[in-house]
Amino acid sequence: MKNDGNASEPRTGGRTARTGVWFVGARGSVATTAVAGCAAVSAGLRPPTGMVTETAPFDGMGLPPLPSLVFGGHDTAHSPLHKRAEHLTDAGVLPHGLAPAVRAELQAADEEIRLGGPLPGDTRGDEELIADFAADLTSFRVRNALARVVVVNVSSTEPLPEPDAVRLPPSSLYAAAAVRAGCPYVNFTPSTGLRTPALTEAAAVGALPHAGRDGKTGQTLLRAALAPMFVQRALEVRAWSGTNLLGGGDGAALADPGAAAAKNAGKERVLADTLGHTPQGEVHIDDVPVLGDWKTAWDHIAFDGFLGTRMILQTTWQGCDSALAAPLVLDLARLVARAHEAGLSGPLPELGFYFKDPDGGPSGLSEQFTALLSFADRLRKGR
Ligand SMILES: NC(=O)c1ccc[n+]([C@@H]2O[C@H](COP(=O)([O-])OP(=O)(O)OC[C@H]3O[C@@H](n4cnc5c(N)ncnc54)[C@H](O)[C@@H]3O)[C@@H](O)[C@H]2O)c1
Repeated sequence: MKNDGNASEPRTGGRTARTGVWFVGARGSVATTAVAGCAAVSAGLRPPTGMVTETAPFDGMGLPPLPSLVFGGHDTAHSPLHKRAEHLTDAGVLPHGLAPAVRAELQAADEEIRLGGPLPGDTRGDEELIADFAADLTSFRVRNALARVVVVNVSSTEPLPEPDAVRLPPSSLYAAAAVRAGCPYVNFTPSTGLRTPALTEAAAVGALPHAGRDGKTGQTLLRAALAPMFVQRALEVRAWSGTNLLGGGDGAALADPGAAAAKNAGKERVLADTLGHTPQGEVHIDDVPVLGDWKTAWDHIAFDGFLGTRMILQTTWQGCDSALAAPLVLDLARLVARAHEAGLSGPLPELGFYFKDPDGGPSGLSEQFTALLSFADRLRKGR
């Protein structure tokens, strides 16, 4: 199960080179769970359950070992990470006793968090914000003598941008800063990030690998696993409807219809890509603050069988959002760091396994996993 990652680890002067992971939204639930989880697994306090890169097929491919990851980030909030970790413990996301056990690692990451933007009343224009964010990234890399820094967007979901908007959305300001500072980039949210022609082109020119967007952790993971079953068994899906109940910061952000529309577009894409058509039915997201990070997702699938016989499948997924997301965020940071080290650049469709709205590649979960395994083999061979 454990990936020793020894075979081709980057080394400097006999020491394993350290890799920076820079979270945009560093004080949020997903980022805090990732920092605490990385520390807990590194110290052997908890198993790496849910981390695909810690399973046997990923052994020996030169991924940065978990203890070599150094965390920092941007956030517009000020709450200290250890306080956030305490809240996550009270909410049942982190196990009791874990936050105090990894307090030093939370403190170290906290010291590397810089104020993001744009802040209310911010007079800085886009260019100034990009320059400031890029300077923070470069300073983090130099100060910690890091081999590279992977920027991972886990900030609040933005509304879909207006077509005539003159300013870049914040996610794209951070993505532009990542490109300027020479950092590979991962977008774990549905926000625009690097997905503009100008930024994608700039990432290609800078020989930077990137992956996105919007982590596939719950309802959409289930959809990506189930939709191919209907296709392979020649069953006709007529309608696929879904409702999500969740709280926490994500629930509050997704109460904004614009942000929910950005999220739902990715969920629907999974069905359209796999089934070859968009079935009837909608996805709804309801903010229920008392649920915190615990999400209930209900799907109702109406399908036809032999001779048009009508049938229904219903599924109920009850998951802890950040516990589902954090191991994937760590996987992605390690895989994209390794891709950068191997000289890969541009979008990485082989990482579609992790995303609702990937940069191409197959759409069924099983085919996506096969593509990920081929990618691991390729990197193991150094290509
Ligand atoms: N299962 C999952 O948890 C999951 C799955 C897929 C995608 N995501 C996405 O991951 C993101 C994070 O989720 P979360 O539960 O940690 O949310 P959260 O609300 O707990 O954290 C978001 C953080 O982003 C910060 N932020 C907001 N605007 C910012 C800005 N302009 N600059 C810097 N920081 C800013 C907030 O202050 C907050 O600390 C969301 O966009 C969510 O949709 C989560």
